[in-house]
Amino acid sequence: MKTYLRLLGFARPLGWVFPQYAGLIFLHTIFRIVNFTALIPVLQILFNLNTERKAVTTLPPFSVSDQYFIDVFYYYFGSIIQAEGKVAALYFICYVLVASVFLSNLFQYLSALLLARVRVNTVTNLRNRVFGHITSLHLGYFTENRKGDLMSRITTDVQQIEESVISTLKVIIKEPFLIIGYFIALMRMSAELTLYTLLLIPISGGIISYLAKRLKKRARKTQQSLGRMTGILDETLSGMRIIKAFAARSYIMGRFADEVGRYGKQNFNIAIRSNLVSPISEFLGVLFISVILLIGGKMVLSETSTLDAAQFIIFLILFSQILNPAKAISSAFNNIQRGIASGERVFEILDTRPRINDKESPRDADILTNAIEFRGVSFAYEKKTVLKDIDFSIPKGKVIALVGPSGGGKSTIAELIPRFYDPIEGQILLDSTDIRDISLKSLRQQMGIVSQESVLFNDTVFQNIAFGKPDSKIEDVENAARIANAHEFIVQLPDGYHTFIGDRGGKLSGGQRQRLSIARAVLKNPPILILDEATSALDSESEKLVQEALYNLMKNRTTLVIAHRLSTIQNADEIIVIKSGKIIQRGTHTQLLESGGMYNKLIKIQTV
Ligand SMILES: Nc1ncnc2c1ncn2[C@@H]1O[C@H](COP(=O)(O)OP(=O)(O)OP(=O)(O)O)[C@@H](O)[C@H]1O
Ligand SMILES: [Mg+2]
Repeated sequence: MKTYLRLLGFARPLGWVFPQYAGLIFLHTIFRIVNFTALIPVLQILFNLNTERKAVTTLPPFSVSDQYFIDVFYYYFGSIIQAEGKVAALYFICYVLVASVFLSNLFQYLSALLLARVRVNTVTNLRNRVFGHITSLHLGYFTENRKGDLMSRITTDVQQIEESVISTLKVIIKEPFLIIGYFIALMRMSAELTLYTLLLIPISGGIISYLAKRLKKRARKTQQSLGRMTGILDETLSGMRIIKAFAARSYIMGRFADEVGRYGKQNFNIAIRSNLVSPISEFLGVLFISVILLIGGKMVLSETSTLDAAQFIIFLILFSQILNPAKAISSAFNNIQRGIASGERVFEILDTRPRINDKESPRDADILTNAIEFRGVSFAYEKKTVLKDIDFSIPKGKVIALVGPSGGGKSTIAELIPRFYDPIEGQILLDSTDIRDISLKSLRQQMGIVSQESVLFNDTVFQNIAFGKPDSKIEDVENAARIANAHEFIVQLPDGYHTFIGDRGGKLSGGQRQRLSIARAVLKNPPILILDEATSALDSESEKLVQEALYNLMKNRTTLVIAHRLSTIQNADEIIVIKSGKIIQRGTHTQLLESGGMYNKLIKIQTV
């Protein structure tokens, strides 16, 4: 219930929608009932029943009650029969019928339009909120949660909610209106018979809600399964090259087939229950109508009651009409369960607080004047300690290099500086201010990051370089590309700077992708630079281009560079050797060479 109200909250701005909707539905209901009840006099004429009993000879005084309208109707009806005969009266009723059918459908259409607007609003608000929230979450969240699952939450789960919100709104407003309207009409025809029907409805309601009860849990499981499926799909599509290279097709197909199988089974389980709802309610409906047929039929035959045959027929028709909204309520109940299950999955995202936050009233970062300093920093991703007691500083304008065996923790150190993660012990200081006291935005504005894997988007070259600064001038972008040694290859692309580069830059070579990422950092022109050199082997020509690009980028900046090719960092002001999360050696290239140890070993391996 809480989830459901919260979902409706996203329908805002609702304002006038509810009263408008209620008004339209009210009118729709009235004309719906007129449709059926206007048939009573027709039957009375055709069956030659005693119409005098209902005759109204004078126009009644105006009052706001249904009796007034009924009397007015019978007044004109009676006078037409008297003046022009029964056929003319049939015409009259047909006009009334056509008009009321037209009006009831018109109002239904208008109300449906209103609901469509609410639906569109809800989903737009919800999707944007979830997307915005996802982008605000800490990086760790995305390694802890599967991407496919997140994707299916924002796509299919929101879709599911979309359907459920609409059916709930109908249930809340429209169907009860119809039911109440029909009941009033039924009561007018025969209060006694209506009371019997009142006893029957809750019984069927109870049975149906029992069936729907456990649907929610199953719906949740199907959505989870769908999430895993999207995940496999995502990995497969982005890893197609590797899958083919390792002949892993049958493995990945097996994984997918398992998940599809599970999904199918869940869905079938849901189908078993949800498909029961409709036949059972239909069966119950006919059963109840038979009961009423018996009771009402006896009443008509006994001739003691005021109910005549024409009214009884219409009574039965109206009663069977009540079953429609009742059915709609039960199937909506189904939908709501699914929608709520999806809603909970979406709210799980919205309720995740980003772990990396601005503290209250953070400072803005000042231009670096002194140094970035790591003081006794330890870090663990989950349980396992990855960094232990790291102390070093990057003085302004200097280049500090991190080297060491793979998995030692170099990239992790680099990710702590823009606060992608927070250390569990110790501090990182920017000119003796703890970076946790600085606003994330201004902190990150100081930095350019070229990471181990170039992160590019399916957009134009221009947009990828100007990323985050969409109003950049083309000259500036070109200039950045020149500095990054990228201009040459870009102008040879089919549309130059306006060439789309494919998913994750798939239409470019590895070296080209790297130079684009470097151009992006050049354009941002940050005082602090963090370079995580890519390990992917480039041929010596493009390596030279990338290398040059990096040198150009590093000029006049404070730089932390992680190097796998040691030749690139021989001029660094300090080289720090990291192994298993600890600093095991430090000094300049010549100092380290003289002192032997790990650095020497690494150099030897690379020069063989
Ligand atoms: N998101 C993560 N969740 C959990 N553990 C992680 C995560 N990222 C890295 N690790 C672990 O942290 C350790 C250090 O990883 P890191 O990426 O910092 O190494 P590295 O020195 O950059 O290695 P390489 O030279 O191969 O790039 C590794 O043991 C790795 O398994
Ligand atoms: Mg790394």
